[in-house]
Amino acid sequence: MNFHVLTLFPDMIIQGLHTSVTGKAIDRGHIRLDVVNIRDYSRDKHKHVDDTPYGGGAGMVMQPEPIWLAYEDMTKDMPGRPRLIYVTPQGTTFTQQMAEEFSREEDLIFLCGHYEGVDERILTEIVTDYVSIGDYVLTGGELPAMVMIDAVSRLLPGVLNNEESAEFESFQDHLLEHPHYTRPVEFHGRRVPEVLLSGHHANIETWRRQQSLKRTLERRPDLLEKAPLTSKDLHYLKELGWEPEDL
Ligand code: ADE
Repeated sequence: MNFHVLTLFPDMIIQGLHTSVTGKAIDRGHIRLDVVNIRDYSRDKHKHVDDTPYGGGAGMVMQPEPIWLAYEDMTKDMPGRPRLIYVTPQGTTFTQQMAEEFSREEDLIFLCGHYEGVDERILTEIVTDYVSIGDYVLTGGELPAMVMIDAVSRLLPGVLNNEESAEFESFQDHLLEHPHYTRPVEFHGRRVPEVLLSGHHANIETWRRQQSLKRTLERRPDLLEKAPLTSKDLHYLKELGWEPEDL
Protein backbone atom coordinates (compact mmCIF):
# COMPACT_ATOMS: atom_id res chain seq x y z
CA MET A 1 0.00 0.00 0.00
CA ASN A 2 1.16 3.52 -0.79
CA PHE A 3 0.83 6.29 1.79
CA HIS A 4 1.26 9.82 0.46
CA VAL A 5 1.52 12.87 2.71
CA LEU A 6 1.18 16.53 1.78
CA THR A 7 2.83 18.55 4.55
CA LEU A 8 4.93 21.58 5.43
CA PHE A 9 7.01 19.45 7.84
CA PRO A 10 8.18 16.41 5.88
CA ASP A 11 11.01 15.56 8.31
CA MET A 12 8.53 15.00 11.10
CA ILE A 13 6.67 12.38 9.08
CA ILE A 14 9.76 10.76 7.56
CA GLN A 15 11.64 10.47 10.84
CA GLY A 16 8.60 9.36 12.81
CA LEU A 17 7.52 6.65 10.42
CA HIS A 18 11.01 5.39 9.61
CA THR A 19 11.21 4.21 13.23
CA SER A 20 10.18 0.89 14.81
CA VAL A 21 7.54 -1.30 13.15
CA THR A 22 6.53 1.12 10.38
CA GLY A 23 10.22 1.76 9.61
CA LYS A 24 10.80 -1.95 9.13
CA ALA A 25 7.67 -2.23 7.00
CA ILE A 26 9.00 0.52 4.71
CA ASP A 27 12.47 -1.08 4.50
CA ARG A 28 10.93 -4.47 3.66
CA GLY A 29 8.61 -3.00 1.05
CA HIS A 30 5.34 -3.87 2.80
CA ILE A 31 4.34 -0.21 2.69
CA ARG A 32 5.55 2.75 0.68
CA LEU A 33 5.82 6.27 2.07
CA ASP A 34 5.79 9.28 -0.25
CA VAL A 35 6.14 12.59 1.60
CA VAL A 36 5.83 15.85 -0.31
CA ASN A 37 6.69 19.30 0.97
CA ILE A 38 3.89 21.67 -0.11
CA ARG A 39 6.38 24.54 0.07
CA ASP A 40 8.25 23.05 -2.92
CA TYR A 41 5.19 23.96 -5.00
CA SER A 42 5.02 27.63 -4.01
CA ARG A 43 5.45 29.93 -6.99
CA ASP A 44 6.20 32.83 -4.67
CA LYS A 45 9.83 33.95 -4.72
CA HIS A 46 9.95 33.76 -0.91
CA LYS A 47 8.28 30.33 -1.01
CA HIS A 48 5.25 31.57 0.94
CA VAL A 49 2.40 29.09 1.27
CA ASP A 50 0.04 31.10 3.49
CA ASP A 51 -1.63 34.50 3.65
CA THR A 52 -3.95 36.57 5.86
CA PRO A 53 -7.63 35.59 5.95
CA TYR A 54 -10.19 37.46 3.85
CA GLY A 55 -12.64 39.15 6.19
CA GLY A 56 -9.92 39.74 8.77
CA GLY A 57 -9.08 37.89 11.95
CA ALA A 58 -6.05 36.35 13.56
CA GLY A 59 -3.69 33.80 12.04
CA MET A 60 -2.77 32.78 8.54
CA VAL A 61 -4.52 30.54 6.04
CA MET A 62 -2.78 28.05 3.76
CA GLN A 63 -3.24 29.05 0.14
CA PRO A 64 -4.91 26.71 -2.33
CA GLU A 65 -2.44 26.86 -5.21
CA PRO A 66 0.67 25.16 -3.76
CA ILE A 67 -1.54 22.37 -2.40
CA TRP A 68 -3.24 21.96 -5.77
CA LEU A 69 0.08 21.80 -7.65
CA ALA A 70 1.51 19.27 -5.20
CA TYR A 71 -1.69 17.19 -5.44
CA GLU A 72 -1.70 17.25 -9.25
CA ASP A 73 1.89 16.08 -9.37
CA MET A 74 1.32 13.40 -6.74
CA THR A 75 -1.77 11.93 -8.42
CA LYS A 76 -0.81 12.21 -12.08
CA ASP A 77 -0.16 8.47 -12.49
CA MET A 78 -2.88 7.21 -10.17
CA PRO A 79 -5.86 5.43 -11.66
CA GLY A 80 -9.07 7.28 -10.77
CA ARG A 81 -9.62 9.69 -7.91
CA PRO A 82 -7.63 8.65 -4.82
CA ARG A 83 -8.95 8.81 -1.30
CA LEU A 84 -7.67 12.01 0.31
CA ILE A 85 -7.93 12.44 4.05
CA TYR A 86 -7.83 15.94 5.49
CA VAL A 87 -6.82 15.58 9.12
CA THR A 88 -8.79 18.07 11.16
CA PRO A 89 -10.44 18.30 14.58
CA GLN A 90 -13.63 19.03 12.59
CA GLY A 91 -13.63 15.51 11.11
CA THR A 92 -15.27 12.21 12.02
CA THR A 93 -13.40 10.50 14.86
CA PHE A 94 -10.92 7.86 13.67
CA THR A 95 -11.73 4.29 14.73
CA GLN A 96 -10.34 0.78 14.26
CA GLN A 97 -13.15 0.16 11.78
CA MET A 98 -12.02 3.16 9.73
CA ALA A 99 -8.43 1.85 9.82
CA GLU A 100 -9.71 -1.44 8.37
CA GLU A 101 -11.59 0.37 5.64
CA PHE A 102 -8.54 2.50 4.72
CA SER A 103 -6.33 -0.61 4.65
CA ARG A 104 -8.26 -1.81 1.59
CA GLU A 105 -7.13 1.19 -0.54
CA GLU A 106 -4.13 1.03 -2.87
CA ASP A 107 -3.22 4.70 -2.35
CA LEU A 108 -4.12 6.96 0.57
CA ILE A 109 -3.25 10.65 0.64
CA PHE A 110 -3.11 12.68 3.86
CA LEU A 111 -3.26 16.46 3.79
CA CYS A 112 -1.79 18.05 6.92
CA GLY A 113 -2.98 21.56 7.70
CA HIS A 114 -1.23 24.22 9.73
CA TYR A 115 -1.78 27.80 10.87
CA GLU A 116 -5.45 28.73 11.24
CA GLY A 117 -6.58 26.49 8.44
CA VAL A 118 -6.60 25.78 4.74
CA ASP A 119 -8.45 27.74 2.05
CA GLU A 120 -11.86 26.08 1.77
CA ARG A 121 -11.82 25.89 -2.04
CA ILE A 122 -8.95 23.41 -2.25
CA LEU A 123 -10.59 21.25 0.42
CA THR A 124 -13.85 21.20 -1.54
CA GLU A 125 -11.96 20.18 -4.63
CA ILE A 126 -9.73 17.34 -3.42
CA VAL A 127 -10.80 16.02 0.02
CA THR A 128 -12.82 12.78 0.21
CA ASP A 129 -12.70 12.27 4.03
CA TYR A 130 -12.45 14.68 6.98
CA VAL A 131 -10.96 12.75 9.89
CA SER A 132 -10.04 13.72 13.47
CA ILE A 133 -8.07 11.65 16.00
CA GLY A 134 -10.03 12.99 18.96
CA ASP A 135 -11.62 15.98 20.62
CA TYR A 136 -8.51 18.05 21.27
CA VAL A 137 -6.57 20.46 19.10
CA LEU A 138 -2.98 19.86 17.99
CA THR A 139 -0.61 22.34 16.33
CA GLY A 140 -0.80 20.57 12.99
CA GLY A 141 -1.97 17.51 11.11
CA GLU A 142 1.33 15.62 11.06
CA LEU A 143 0.85 13.64 14.28
CA PRO A 144 -2.74 12.67 13.38
CA ALA A 145 -1.57 11.53 9.92
CA MET A 146 1.16 9.43 11.54
CA VAL A 147 -1.32 7.94 14.00
CA MET A 148 -3.59 6.86 11.15
CA ILE A 149 -0.74 5.55 8.98
CA ASP A 150 0.51 3.48 11.93
CA ALA A 151 -2.95 2.04 12.65
CA VAL A 152 -3.54 1.17 8.98
CA SER A 153 -0.03 -0.24 8.42
CA ARG A 154 -0.27 -2.82 11.17
CA LEU A 155 -3.31 -4.32 9.43
CA LEU A 156 -1.40 -4.96 6.21
CA PRO A 157 0.10 -8.36 5.38
CA GLY A 158 3.69 -8.82 6.55
CA VAL A 159 3.85 -5.72 8.75
CA LEU A 160 3.37 -7.52 12.08
CA ASN A 161 4.72 -10.90 13.02
CA ASN A 162 2.23 -13.64 13.99
CA GLU A 163 2.48 -13.02 17.70
CA GLU A 164 1.75 -9.33 17.35
CA SER A 165 -1.12 -10.03 14.96
CA ALA A 166 -2.69 -12.46 17.41
CA GLU A 167 -2.53 -9.84 20.13
CA PHE A 168 -4.64 -7.57 17.98
CA GLU A 169 -7.43 -10.14 17.70
CA SER A 170 -8.50 -9.54 21.27
CA PHE A 171 -9.26 -5.88 20.65
CA GLN A 172 -11.30 -6.86 17.61
CA ASP A 173 -13.55 -8.68 20.07
CA HIS A 174 -14.43 -5.30 21.63
CA LEU A 175 -12.73 -6.31 24.86
CA LEU A 176 -9.59 -4.88 26.44
CA GLU A 177 -6.63 -7.16 26.90
CA HIS A 178 -5.91 -8.99 30.14
CA PRO A 179 -2.83 -7.80 32.13
CA HIS A 180 0.62 -9.18 31.28
CA TYR A 181 3.45 -10.27 33.57
CA THR A 182 7.05 -11.37 33.08
CA ARG A 183 10.09 -12.02 35.33
CA PRO A 184 10.69 -11.47 38.20
CA VAL A 185 7.99 -13.35 40.10
CA GLU A 186 8.02 -10.61 42.74
CA PHE A 187 8.52 -6.89 42.08
CA HIS A 188 8.27 -4.23 44.81
CA GLY A 189 6.39 -6.74 46.95
CA ARG A 190 3.84 -7.56 44.24
CA ARG A 191 3.65 -11.17 43.08
CA VAL A 192 2.63 -12.48 39.69
CA PRO A 193 -0.88 -14.02 40.05
CA GLU A 194 -0.42 -17.67 41.11
CA VAL A 195 -2.60 -19.07 38.32
CA LEU A 196 -0.07 -17.86 35.73
CA LEU A 197 2.65 -19.89 37.45
CA SER A 198 0.48 -23.00 37.75
CA GLY A 199 0.99 -24.33 34.21
CA HIS A 200 -2.75 -25.16 34.14
CA HIS A 201 -3.71 -23.91 30.69
CA ALA A 202 -7.49 -24.07 31.04
CA ASN A 203 -7.38 -22.13 34.31
CA ILE A 204 -5.04 -19.58 32.77
CA GLU A 205 -7.43 -19.08 29.84
CA THR A 206 -10.39 -18.64 32.20
CA TRP A 207 -8.43 -16.16 34.33
CA ARG A 208 -7.38 -14.16 31.26
CA ARG A 209 -10.91 -14.02 29.90
CA GLN A 210 -12.23 -12.87 33.27
CA GLN A 211 -9.50 -10.24 33.64
CA SER A 212 -10.31 -9.00 30.18
CA LEU A 213 -14.02 -8.73 31.03
CA LYS A 214 -13.31 -7.06 34.39
CA ARG A 215 -10.91 -4.55 32.88
CA THR A 216 -13.34 -3.69 30.09
CA LEU A 217 -16.13 -3.21 32.63
CA GLU A 218 -13.94 -0.93 34.76
CA ARG A 219 -12.29 1.11 32.02
CA ARG A 220 -14.50 0.95 28.90
CA PRO A 221 -17.97 -0.35 29.84
CA ASP A 222 -19.32 1.11 26.58
CA LEU A 223 -17.42 -1.61 24.67
CA LEU A 224 -19.29 -4.44 26.39
CA GLU A 225 -22.51 -3.58 24.57
CA LYS A 226 -20.87 -4.60 21.27
CA ALA A 227 -18.75 -7.52 22.50
CA PRO A 228 -19.70 -11.09 21.58
CA LEU A 229 -20.25 -12.54 25.06
CA THR A 230 -20.85 -16.14 26.04
CA SER A 231 -23.33 -17.12 28.75
CA LYS A 232 -20.32 -17.74 31.04
CA ASP A 233 -19.07 -14.22 30.32
CA LEU A 234 -22.49 -12.77 31.12
CA HIS A 235 -22.64 -14.72 34.36
CA TYR A 236 -19.22 -13.42 35.40
CA LEU A 237 -20.07 -9.83 34.45
CA LYS A 238 -23.30 -9.98 36.43
CA GLU A 239 -21.30 -11.19 39.45
CA LEU A 240 -19.23 -8.05 39.03
CA GLY A 241 -22.38 -5.96 39.04
CA TRP A 242 -22.70 -5.25 35.33
CA GLU A 243 -26.16 -4.15 34.23
CA PRO A 244 -26.40 -4.28 30.44
CA GLU A 245 -28.46 -1.49 28.91
CA ASP A 246 -30.62 -3.56 26.59
CA LEU A 247 -30.50 -7.20 27.53
N1 ADE B 1 -5.26 18.80 13.61
C1 ADE B 1 -5.21 19.45 14.78
N2 ADE B 1 -5.81 18.75 15.74
C2 ADE B 1 -6.26 17.60 15.17
C3 ADE B 1 -6.97 16.46 15.64
N3 ADE B 1 -7.36 16.34 16.90
N4 ADE B 1 -7.27 15.49 14.76
C4 ADE B 1 -6.90 15.60 13.48
N5 ADE B 1 -6.23 16.64 12.99
C5 ADE B 1 -5.91 17.64 13.81
